[in-house]
Amino acid sequence: MGVYQHLATIFGHTAGLSSSTGISWMCLAHPPTKERNIMRKKVTIVGAGNVGATAAHWIASKELADVVLIDVIDGVPQGKGLDLLESLPIEKRDVSVIGTNDYADTANSDIVVITAGIARKPGMSRDDLLNTNFNIMSDVAGKALAASPNAIFIIVSNPLDAMAQTAFKKLGLPRERVIGMAGVLDSARFRTFIAQELNVSVENVTAFVLGGHGDTMVPLSRYSTVAGIPITELIPADRLKELETRTANGGAEIVKYLKTGSAYYAPSAAAVEMVEAILKDKKKILPCAAYLQGEYGIKGLYVGVPCKLGAKGLEQIIEIKLTADEQTALNKSADAVKELCTVIGVA
Ligand code: NAI
Ligand code: 2OP
Repeated sequence: MGVYQHLATIFGHTAGLSSSTGISWMCLAHPPTKERNIMRKKVTIVGAGNVGATAAHWIASKELADVVLIDVIDGVPQGKGLDLLESLPIEKRDVSVIGTNDYADTANSDIVVITAGIARKPGMSRDDLLNTNFNIMSDVAGKALAASPNAIFIIVSNPLDAMAQTAFKKLGLPRERVIGMAGVLDSARFRTFIAQELNVSVENVTAFVLGGHGDTMVPLSRYSTVAGIPITELIPADRLKELETRTANGGAEIVKYLKTGSAYYAPSAAAVEMVEAILKDKKKILPCAAYLQGEYGIKGLYVGVPCKLGAKGLEQIIEIKLTADEQTALNKSADAVKELCTVIGVA
């Protein structure tokens, strides 16, 4: 007797058909049916390019939620979505993944991650993307909100802080529901360099990077630790400065290698750490771009600061004491964000 017949005998029905007892195959497994399981959370990713598709991959491989990939290009989200779905029997993960060009398919998402836009090429700064990505963000944010009125938005497109500010203004949502991803990535880069320098596990390293996601970002060595020990006690100041500078230029370092685009493994993993913190209501403290309303002396602007993420999205902004030099560096970084926001009229 084959396994299906054996199970059918136990459960008193024939494979693929509902039994007279009302027990269906849905009780036995989660086959990749076309119906999504509404008990699962739903995450829409706008932009099925490198960051978007890789974020979908992390979400599916962690079995966090059903995923909808949406893009303007016909066929790309559908092809990547189906390909990813077909990997899940191997990975033993039961979520639905679809690709689409239609916002109707994104309806009632719990989280919308926006990665749509153009990416950096060698010689381009994040700021060079400003006008094109402003137009794209203005277009996609409203469409995504119309389909998912209760969603929390995580913004990834660059220049990050100005795009988060654009989305915030267009969406008209409370700041708790519009959060920018940059600090998790920047601090992960810093953590990587610290772990390499000291030849210790990355798990032992915590690090904080404040400010805008640009050359003016502020890696906070004083608040970065290895197994609880401040790195300022483990790495000489001049070498630490080099690691901070490498962190601030971390995006450009990858662009220089890739030549045709920018980083996506670490950026997508960073966005998904935020997704996971929200979906699981983890109350996790992560550096994120948040709309400041006087915190750190900054008002009406998205800037990277330590945030607590949970089911409500941004649940708290943590204010830490800065030295005069750190505050000056943060102000300089905020000024750079403000300049970009002024150019596109969202300051
Ligand atoms: P990519 O070029 O691989 O993908 C972008 C996708 O957006 C493309 O598939 C494109 O067709 C799509 N798109 C363009 N207009 C659209 C629209 N109106 N609606 C839906 N989709 C649209 O670029 P990649 O590498 O995925 O980067 C995406 C964005 O994320 C870039 O702006 C990049 O600079 C930014 N980024 C931000 C990071 C951060 O730390 N915040 C880190 C890495 C990338
Ligand atoms: C990065 O930091 C380009 O913002 C992107 O890799």
